[in-house]
Amino acid sequence: MKRRIGLLTSGGDCPGLNAAIRGVARAAYEMFDAEIVGIADGYSGLINGEYREMKQSEFSGILTLGGTILGTSRQPYRNMRVIGEDNVDKVAAMKANYKKMKLDCLVTLGGNGTHKTANLLSEEGLNVIGLPKTIDNDIYGTDVTFGFHTAADIATEVIDRIHTTANSHGRVMVVEIMGNKAGWLTLYAGVAGGADVVLLPEIPYELENVVKAVEQRAKGGKSFSIIAVAEGAMTKAEAAMKKKERAALRAENPYKTVSHTLAEQIQKATGLETRAVVPGHIQRGGSPSSYDRVLSTRFGVHAAQLIRDECYGVSVAMAGDTVVHNPLKEVAGITKFVPVDHQLIQTGRHIGIKFGD
Ligand code: F6P
Repeated sequence: MKRRIGLLTSGGDCPGLNAAIRGVARAAYEMFDAEIVGIADGYSGLINGEYREMKQSEFSGILTLGGTILGTSRQPYRNMRVIGEDNVDKVAAMKANYKKMKLDCLVTLGGNGTHKTANLLSEEGLNVIGLPKTIDNDIYGTDVTFGFHTAADIATEVIDRIHTTANSHGRVMVVEIMGNKAGWLTLYAGVAGGADVVLLPEIPYELENVVKAVEQRAKGGKSFSIIAVAEGAMTKAEAAMKKKERAALRAENPYKTVSHTLAEQIQKATGLETRAVVPGHIQRGGSPSSYDRVLSTRFGVHAAQLIRDECYGVSVAMAGDTVVHNPLKEVAGITKFVPVDHQLIQTGRHIGIKFGD
């Protein structure tokens, strides 16, 4: 049995992409006569015909490697059917290149945007399998995405390190964690790092509640406080605005992120010395954790099994401790937010974490 597989990684990178690529490739070479074509820089390579046939040896030695050996880029789904100034019909180009590469199927490793385009290509008749990656853990239909736990470990270590310096100086430290729409990373790192206040996009906050939490700690003899804030966290007033209005407000000063604004406000309101820390893309870099190496490998192997069985138009997922797959059309592009009554939020509340609401 012979299968010619196209592989691409799209959207923001994360630890575990190479481990998943390796999982697909190794299992495919084991299971059938596999030929693998690596497509460069996500959908951009598929549109522009930038690809090359890969050697089996290229999938060795990449289990622990951060980033993606294929390269990646963001190609917004909303523009996929829009013909721009370059006059390129992107969907037609992707279909033509798929044909030119003589692929039996395409495996796309990515987040919500990647899945939307994967579904579009599937509806256009291509054989597509999606693998869910993102540090945000916000893909509907899977309990967990690869990259998330590594990023949570990194963000936790940031908070741990901030803890000691906050304690020495008796400062309030506001640590900004990635996650524009969903607060999974902030919630996990906040609980794991022992943050005093955790602010998530899903739970709009009032500044006065954050200030009160910090002041209460100070009154109780704690000279420092740690606030873990998701980059997409917002006040109740901001949450009441239209999305465009909110975006315009933030765009007025793009370098003053939520943590900087909050640090300034807290210092002004409490008189306590306050600093903002933004670890940013450090959270996406470096080697995957053991958890993510295993998860990526399991997802990759499952994709190879699906290819062997010619089961396409699906996205691989974790349900409990079992790897499963969902129809792309049922999950593509649906954001998995943190439910506001999630047990981990309740756990946080029980140990005294304030969520600013
Ligand atoms: O989706 C992953 C993510 O890291 C988000 O947490 C963050 O909002 C976004 O990507 C940052 O995107 P970029 O790498 O394009 O700056």
